Amino acid sequence: MSIQANPLIKTLALSPRRRMAPPAPATARRPMAAVRCSAAKRSYNVTLLPGDGIGPEVVAVAKDVLSLAGALEGVEFRFQEKLMGGAAVDAYGVPLPEETLAAAQASDAVLLGAIGGYKWDNNEKHLKPETGLLQIRAGLGVFANLRPAAVLPQLVDASTLKKEVAEGVDIMVVRELTGGIYFGQPRGFGKNDKGEDTGFNTEVYSASEIDRITRVAFEVARKRRGKLCSVDKANVLEASMLWRKRVTSLASEFPDIELSHMYVDNAAMQLIRNPKQFDTIVTNNIFGDILSDEASMLTGSIGMLPSASVGESGPGLFEPIHGSAPDIAGQDKANPLATILSAAMLLRYGLGEENAAKRVEAAVTETLNNGFRTGDIYSPGTTLVGCKRMGEEVLKTVESQSAVALNS
Ligand code: IPM
Ligand code: MG
Repeated sequence: MSIQANPLIKTLALSPRRRMAPPAPATARRPMAAVRCSAAKRSYNVTLLPGDGIGPEVVAVAKDVLSLAGALEGVEFRFQEKLMGGAAVDAYGVPLPEETLAAAQASDAVLLGAIGGYKWDNNEKHLKPETGLLQIRAGLGVFANLRPAAVLPQLVDASTLKKEVAEGVDIMVVRELTGGIYFGQPRGFGKNDKGEDTGFNTEVYSASEIDRITRVAFEVARKRRGKLCSVDKANVLEASMLWRKRVTSLASEFPDIELSHMYVDNAAMQLIRNPKQFDTIVTNNIFGDILSDEASMLTGSIGMLPSASVGESGPGLFEPIHGSAPDIAGQDKANPLATILSAAMLLRYGLGEENAAKRVEAAVTETLNNGFRTGDIYSPGTTLVGCKRMGEEVLKTVESQSAVALNS
């Protein structure tokens, strides 16, 4: 069980759940890696939640990459796989079985694929895969969701924006994940005075909920280019008025950070007009949901983008931001890079294994430099590959590029 406070929340210094391994059989899948590195010194329990659609395909690939990068750094993983989402609805009759949540809570980090699919779209709310996702976020208390969107030079042509607008974009959206309208009470269905059906939700934030996400965002901005833009709708919504007041009052604790505020409608526009003006964005749950999808499209493919969700303590939840893509599930067409990069975030933010994280990120860059592309990022002149082959190419590169990664 993870008991230390999350490093990101404390200082963003990378010193978290390192632990000495009890004598255990080596789990490195590749004999070469096992031979090349010394005996594993640190050991972590990682819960894998492949989920639905392309989830199992991309998680299988990311698991191999984690194992190899870990082995090369003297880190050993013990994986356990659990059901959630539609797969759990089918097997257990609920989208997040107790057993799955308990396993996730007791592990050092959780890697999730994707959930959902046509089959469950018309289920009642408590039987929807999405309900399981909200339950695990709440159950792990992961209130801070980090969603980076960077335009890689190799993929700048994949963006729908003009090259001069897209190139060099590097944004981090810090989304509040366990509050706001997603969880606010009262909510439900009712009738109005005329007897008409109504549906209603509540956007509510307490001062402490705003303060804790704001502090994370300031710390994230400090590790980046020192600019934080808080996005709200304070010209209309009371919850946003409090949001802006709290964010403003915390700014004095971070005098080195340049803070600005923007209404969400303007932010949606500015993200397309001049995305390079943004460094770190902090916003509430629903605005973060929308703006992070928008930001992801600046990069050309949602298939490239990872995310990390962390709380005060306990394991973080790491997942690609793309969905389960049921239209291509089981066809070996999915892009596994977002999940591989989520595994890198797991190493960095969840476990403090910076060197292993760098190995994974360098391997992804190198694989792209080598010209390998899945369908979503393919352009003429590159080599079209499937999910498994992309994974194999990244694995090859984890080994061959490790020295570069270490020295970068
Ligand atoms: C996301 C997704 C989820 C959300 C859905 C699947 C519940 O869109 O992670 O952005 O709205 O948070
Ligand atoms: Mg979303």
